[in-house]
Amino acid sequence: MSKICVIGSSSMDLVVTSRKRPKAGETVLGESFETVPGGKGANQAVAAARLGAEVWMIGCVGDDQYGKTILNNFQANGVLTDYVETVTHQTTGTAHIVLSNGDNSIIVVKGANDAVTPQFVQKAIAAIKRADIVLIQQEIPEETVDYVSELCKELSIPLLLNPAPARLLRKETIENATYITPNEHEASLLFQGLSQKEMLRRYPEKLLITEGKNGVRYHNGAEEKLIPSFPVKAVDTTGAGDTFNAGFAVALSEGQNIKSALQFANRAASLSVQKFGAQGGMPTREEMECEHS
Ligand code: RIB
Repeated sequence: MSKICVIGSSSMDLVVTSRKRPKAGETVLGESFETVPGGKGANQAVAAARLGAEVWMIGCVGDDQYGKTILNNFQANGVLTDYVETVTHQTTGTAHIVLSNGDNSIIVVKGANDAVTPQFVQKAIAAIKRADIVLIQQEIPEETVDYVSELCKELSIPLLLNPAPARLLRKETIENATYITPNEHEASLLFQGLSQKEMLRRYPEKLLITEGKNGVRYHNGAEEKLIPSFPVKAVDTTGAGDTFNAGFAVALSEGQNIKSALQFANRAASLSVQKFGAQGGMPTREEMECEHS
């Protein structure tokens, strides 16, 4: 069984479904409201565990009902929580999501996710040292992402950096990461002044640009490749990127090459969007194999 560490956010998603997205100053009537576990880190941990990896989550929640629900959800999905700490000085992170016409818009309030500091990550060093791959995103402090990139480089542990939500990154952090998986918007912020072709050529087999329902694009050292996604009817795309990242990490850690790992990741993401909620449609390994046959 492959071993994965996810260092990142755990949040409660507060999801409103509405036919109309309000403009500034406007009030509209929505159709439904639900609270479901989310946060990019937690989503990636749950997706990787469902896909069959042994997963340690390294993160923080608040000492409140949302925090308890998130911990129970990790346990229900087989994610190891030895390094998930309940902090008392911050409330659990929340994501405020409007789902409208098949698309989402999200405001994240980081809360306890800001307690995922470099000092906090050091407490989980034993798990990190045993990992086949480490996953990290950007809903935790920037200095932690920089620190983990250095740590993984020093320990020679592959690091998959999902640079979401978008922000600028130090050049060293980009260089230290083994794989970087921005969407097109995040890529243009990270590599300002370069065309997409130039970025991909500069980072062969490392930079993987996701293009939503189009697929994922990378350079294999000889030429640019698009690995197309699977056409499906999407109910909710929240968490599709997280499922993609987890699927890619699981497949790589099992020894698959980049192309087949990307196909595996695309298939997992295509299943995930067919149900409501960031984690609602994340497939189990059995469901992936069923889909494959
Ligand atoms: O990637 C999807 C996630 O982003 C949601 O679950 C929400 O928590 C936001 O952080």
